[in-house]
Amino acid sequence: MVAEISRVLIKEEEIRQKVKELGKRITYDYQNKDLFVIGILKGSVVFLADLIREISLPLEIDFMAVSSYGATTHTSGVVRIMKDLDTDINNKDVLIIEDIIDTGLTLSYLKENLLSREPASLKVCTMLDKPDRRKVQLIPDYNGYEIPDEFVVGYGLDYNQNFRNLPYIGVVNTRASA
Ligand code: IMP
Ligand code: MG
Repeated sequence: MVAEISRVLIKEEEIRQKVKELGKRITYDYQNKDLFVIGILKGSVVFLADLIREISLPLEIDFMAVSSYGATTHTSGVVRIMKDLDTDINNKDVLIIEDIIDTGLTLSYLKENLLSREPASLKVCTMLDKPDRRKVQLIPDYNGYEIPDEFVVGYGLDYNQNFRNLPYIGVVNTRASA
């Protein structure tokens, strides 16, 4: 299969503005809290790196890796923790950073798992939301853009591990190679 970008969905400059706006809201909401940001590897790294620089508060970061998808664009429904946090989140104000919420299976599993560690609070911030594909009820507390049911890449998001470094978000078009 050969994959290529069929069109740009969200331009670099629009992303920059949106991330600034999210950072401002988070800065306002987390005054005097003990902000602990968790990035979900690998898709969230670009978004997280930009977002934390728009948050004018002391904060900690840590990462988790989960597997919910194989090398295809279909969900398996199976969520496994491949890398856990290095730190205890008990009594911290935890904000999960995710690239995209699709079926919601990954985040609903993660929320339940993290809640059992008794943080002071737990919220979710996603760059993209595909509400049409939801299998479990979950609304992100902060979200950049709602997008239609199309497979997107760039700004951290991949198709078979490719395209994560694109500075914009694009729709990917896959076709059989010649
Ligand atoms: P969920 O459990 O179905 O909500 O899956 C969320 C995960 O699926 C994200 O962290 C992405 O890794 C992946 N994913 C879902 N939709 C897309 C997409 O359009 N492009 C790239 N990855 C996606
Ligand atoms: Mg992912």
